[in-house]
Amino acid sequence: MTVSTTKANTGGVGFSNYDDKKLLELDEIYGANHYGRLQTIIRKTEGAWLYTQDGRKILDCLAAYSAANPGHHHPKIVKALVNALENGYASVVSNVVYTDQLSLMLEKVSSLPPQLGPRFGNNGNKTLPKNGGVESVETAIKMARYYGWKEKGITDGKQEIIVYDNNFHGRMITVVSFSTSPKYKEGFGPLTPGFKAAPFGDLDATEKLINENTCGILVEPMQGEGGMNIPPKEFLKGLREMADKHNIVLMFDEIQVGMGRTGKTFCFEHENVIPDVLILGKAISGGLVPLSVMVTNSSLMDMAFQPGSDGSTFGGYPLACAAGLAAINVMIDEKLPQKSYATGKMLKEKITEIASRSPHVKAVRGMGLFIGIEVKNGDAMSFGHKLLELDMLANDSHGHTIRISPPLIINDAEVEYICERLEKVLVD
Ligand SMILES: Cc1ncc(COP(=O)(O)O)c(C=O)c1O
Repeated sequence: MTVSTTKANTGGVGFSNYDDKKLLELDEIYGANHYGRLQTIIRKTEGAWLYTQDGRKILDCLAAYSAANPGHHHPKIVKALVNALENGYASVVSNVVYTDQLSLMLEKVSSLPPQLGPRFGNNGNKTLPKNGGVESVETAIKMARYYGWKEKGITDGKQEIIVYDNNFHGRMITVVSFSTSPKYKEGFGPLTPGFKAAPFGDLDATEKLINENTCGILVEPMQGEGGMNIPPKEFLKGLREMADKHNIVLMFDEIQVGMGRTGKTFCFEHENVIPDVLILGKAISGGLVPLSVMVTNSSLMDMAFQPGSDGSTFGGYPLACAAGLAAINVMIDEKLPQKSYATGKMLKEKITEIASRSPHVKAVRGMGLFIGIEVKNGDAMSFGHKLLELDMLANDSHGHTIRISPPLIINDAEVEYICERLEKVLVD
């Protein structure tokens, strides 16, 4: 069988003329079995919609775990990428030289949040780019540990960072080492030491873990993979006070909940609490090429990183920067955080009403278009499968919660589409 880029046999869309059965076979033979995938092959994406070979149109209520916030193939981001490719400024060049896209992207991202870590000075923010979320989380961990050693006098190797139960920060060895889900780390030892976990939302438990070796607190301001959890009010504020009191670096992982997802550009704006470090990924480049960043106070960045102490071949390469610049402009120009707030409020109200008539729902929680429906049987995917049969893609968070996190551009008709399907699987 030959690969063809014609539209043959794909219901008018797609990259190849291989049929679904053949592609599933290839994946089974050649791919790692590391995802429990749904047996559905997506041939094309556009806006909030996913298309299959047989012409099925599925509403995307997952948005690649928030990577596709602006909608799939947003024309302005596509245009920026095509321009870069066609005009000779897309290819990776080594980090021993500068590129204009990198400088412009650094300025754009650094200026997006307010002054981070103001107690370290009012010198502006700096940004260190990588390729995937987990890389930027590890960059932040490196920085907090370095701060602990250099500025707090902690013996190198003894630095400790406080994390939270049900955290999710990615899949590499250091971050799975402090996961509280055994399946993420079992058999992958030796694990990285230096982390202590407190219950999410528990300030007293956090304070009890602080000692002379504590250099950082790493937290998702709302937990995406942990069950779409929103901490109690004042939690982030309490962490801020604790970090100030004990001279600890406070790091917010907003890879899933930042960039407008929860109805604000940054999730921390709901509580008006400024972290020292902000970690972003996924939607920062609009879902077309990977980019992630660690943003922090300039003084902290300069203290921790010198030539040779960090780096990444593709981190901040021109194509990713072009996408990042375009995606941030789209988020601002199209008021995606405001849209997420308004559409999310309406959708959550409707879901709450449906839930009130459902025998299956335990709780509905969320902010903006970050909405979780916890189900009583603890098996959210049993509902995910039914929703997919009704042409709506929604997966589980932490097993027990149906995640509703569509692209932030969904319109009223698409909100109705979601509600009709939830009504069918949760009530009828
Ligand atoms: C909060 C959070 N941090 C980190 C990551 C890891 O990002 P990546 O998969 O890009 O490495 C994720 C991914 O889902 C996430 O939700």
